[in-house]
Amino acid sequence: MGVVVAGSLNIDLVVNLDRMPLPGETVHGKTFQTFPGGKGLNQAVSAARSKAVTSMIGALGTDPYSAILREVMHAEGIDAQLVRSINGPCGTAIIEVDSSGQNRIVVIPGANAEMKASEASFDSFKPGSTLLAQLESPIDQLVEIFKNAKRSGIRTILNPAPAIDLPESLLMNVDFLIPNQHEAKILSGLNADNRDDAVKAAYRLIERGAAAVVVPLGDVGAIYVDKENVIFQPAFPVNPVDTTAAGDAFCGALAAELDRGNSIEVALEYACAAGGLATTKNGAVPSMPSELEIRSYLAAQDN
Ligand code: RIB
Repeated sequence: MGVVVAGSLNIDLVVNLDRMPLPGETVHGKTFQTFPGGKGLNQAVSAARSKAVTSMIGALGTDPYSAILREVMHAEGIDAQLVRSINGPCGTAIIEVDSSGQNRIVVIPGANAEMKASEASFDSFKPGSTLLAQLESPIDQLVEIFKNAKRSGIRTILNPAPAIDLPESLLMNVDFLIPNQHEAKILSGLNADNRDDAVKAAYRLIERGAAAVVVPLGDVGAIYVDKENVIFQPAFPVNPVDTTAAGDAFCGALAAELDRGNSIEVALEYACAAGGLATTKNGAVPSMPSELEIRSYLAAQDN
């Protein structure tokens, strides 16, 4: 058992502002902060804080930010042996967060473009373990990693973010595809704006090869769809300050729960709580909730 995250590591350059500028407009920002981030690292931290034995496959550079990101993995107990170092900068994300907590993100790949499938041998995938990946890494390398993971017989999860058209050769090796509504629309060509439409989009993605689809629906909750079942998990109440990486908290927490053998119903409830809690704090990695926070929050909802 264990969660292997194949993905990006970024330094997030974050500006908080009242509202997003229009094209050609200049607005005043309120604060500027740097946070560790990257969809891969965020999801690895989420899984690790949910007590999964977690490792990463990825690439960092030789700049000072890369050293900070490597230190984050060390501090979180994430095995970083398969995170290679290449000359140059690490990945960077430029993030704007408005007063309602909504964000806009631009990512510059940097070292993430050098992630190699060859770093992941069959030994990387222990029987019963879980592969979790996103799309901030080279697609050809991800195709290879998913093929190797399926050959090793392990559970595979893909969060197709940011969305690009996915080759069938990747989708056919995905056990759980986790697009948000925007990504589900791009990948399926169907509207996924509400719960019913998201279910239809999920069926289309199953037709294209994914074994099951989970769509987080923000403050509505999340759906799970496979060939026989549709499950809906309502969202939990939160007061969001920054929605950045809420989807990453969701994916890492879901992977950790499935990895320890919990049912999809239980995992979905836990992941919805994790995603909600992540919106209540600023930053990407700093906002990933721990297992204790998630279980205490769930227990408080029951009372
Ligand atoms: O999902 C949030 C993440 O997207 C940020 O941490 C940023 O680095 C980008 O990868």
